[in-house]
Amino acid sequence: MSVPTVPAYTEPVRPVPASRTPLLGNLPEFARDPLAFFTRLRDDHGDMVEWRLGRQRCLFLARPDHVGEVLAGAESTFVHAQMPPTFLQLHGEGMVNSSGDAWRRKRALVQPAIRPRQVRAYARTMAQCAEEFADGLKAGERLDIRRHMLKLTQRIAVRTLFGTDTAEQEATVGRTMEVAQREIGAELGGFASMVPSWVPTPGRLRLKAAITELDAEVLRLIKAHKQSAGEREDLISRLMTARDEQGRSLTDREVRDEAVTLYVAGHETTGTTLTWAWYLLSDHPEVLAKLAGEAREVFQDRFPDHDDYPRLTYTQQVIKETLRLYPPVWLVYAHATERSTVGGVRIPAGSRVYTSPWVTHRDPRWFPDPEEFRPERWTDAFDATLPAHAWFPFGGGPRACPGARFALVESVLVLATVARRFSLRVDPGEIPAKAALTLQPGREVPGTVVAA
Ligand code: HEM
Repeated sequence: MSVPTVPAYTEPVRPVPASRTPLLGNLPEFARDPLAFFTRLRDDHGDMVEWRLGRQRCLFLARPDHVGEVLAGAESTFVHAQMPPTFLQLHGEGMVNSSGDAWRRKRALVQPAIRPRQVRAYARTMAQCAEEFADGLKAGERLDIRRHMLKLTQRIAVRTLFGTDTAEQEATVGRTMEVAQREIGAELGGFASMVPSWVPTPGRLRLKAAITELDAEVLRLIKAHKQSAGEREDLISRLMTARDEQGRSLTDREVRDEAVTLYVAGHETTGTTLTWAWYLLSDHPEVLAKLAGEAREVFQDRFPDHDDYPRLTYTQQVIKETLRLYPPVWLVYAHATERSTVGGVRIPAGSRVYTSPWVTHRDPRWFPDPEEFRPERWTDAFDATLPAHAWFPFGGGPRACPGARFALVESVLVLATVARRFSLRVDPGEIPAKAALTLQPGREVPGTVVAA
């Protein structure tokens, strides 16, 4: 299959007509359905489009090379947008909320704890949690598939990141995180976001209580791990022994902030990916049968482990294709800190620049028949000719997702471990994608457990 090369960009920036309300700009269309809005920008106006969010000047980029330019400029020409206050409360000063030297230091200290060599150690826990999940399934049972996938990735995150020793600790971390994330989501999408941040709305009080309880538990865990740091293989222990160039370690509070950040960044994204994977597999029984066959052949009757990952090549293709069609991080955006250029076009300082894996991943120039779920397209030859950043579910440049390997190993091992014994058949019917903080199924995902 041949992939077209990116033509040189020659057209000028095309302004999109604002909506009828000059003060709102394109806000109404953007708020109504952002996925359709950005897709329309590309389809109707081209690869580089100026639009308005209220009075804010924004730029939307659809072409892989332009996306790459912006991502490469992260932490120099472009900076991440500020997180809302409720986010800051939960993440503290974790790396997602930092920039400049503070971000560089944290990233350098945290990244080694989730690099491929360390993910190897977490793989056993991932497979163990997936086996426990499969042990609890019964053929014919009805399930809320999304809720179960989120529970499963939550358990994996709690065990691998926080190194909980008891079911009680695991439950406390899981429950408080769930409350905190729910309240943050409700605030972002609701009227509470318009209430000044000092007003103690009921949701904010619940958030505060959950964070207080979470902090107490995590700080207890950190204290307990101090005695055995170096022997343990969980992330908190690794963070506690990490040293920067000056030989300084992270403080307990910094360890807490980074562990919480990794948890939030990693658990819902991976749980949602698995949910979309079951949805797509349910509609493509031939793909499911091939995947289950591969799992049985690779695992035989053994307990799955990290060495199986490279051999689960078809399952890897299924996950790549799932991330193409349903990228959990559907929007990646930044502010231009100074005057710069993208694709040779001048970008004024202060512009907001938006890129969307959803739009670029569904572009027929890079992915023939883009709406089709076709894991077979991911051959080595296709990968080799695909322009850089045509597939960018994990972002790119200096702020690319440091947990990409963790997420891929987890998704592949979980899917194959469960599929060896059962499939989770999502009930027939279309599930629309909803652009929330991450890309979510627009309704519940009910299904039935079917023995393999
Ligand atoms: C399918 C799962 C995942 C997807 C699609 C995903 C995607 C992304 C993307 C696109 C970014 C960059 C965002 C931006 O530039 O604005 C990002 C950042 C990040 N991700 Fe992931 N991620 C996933 C799983 C994980 C996991 C499992 C972890 C941790 C174990 C993780 C930790 C992080 C962190 C800490 C950042 C912030 C990096 C920084 O600020 O320098 N992610 N992720």
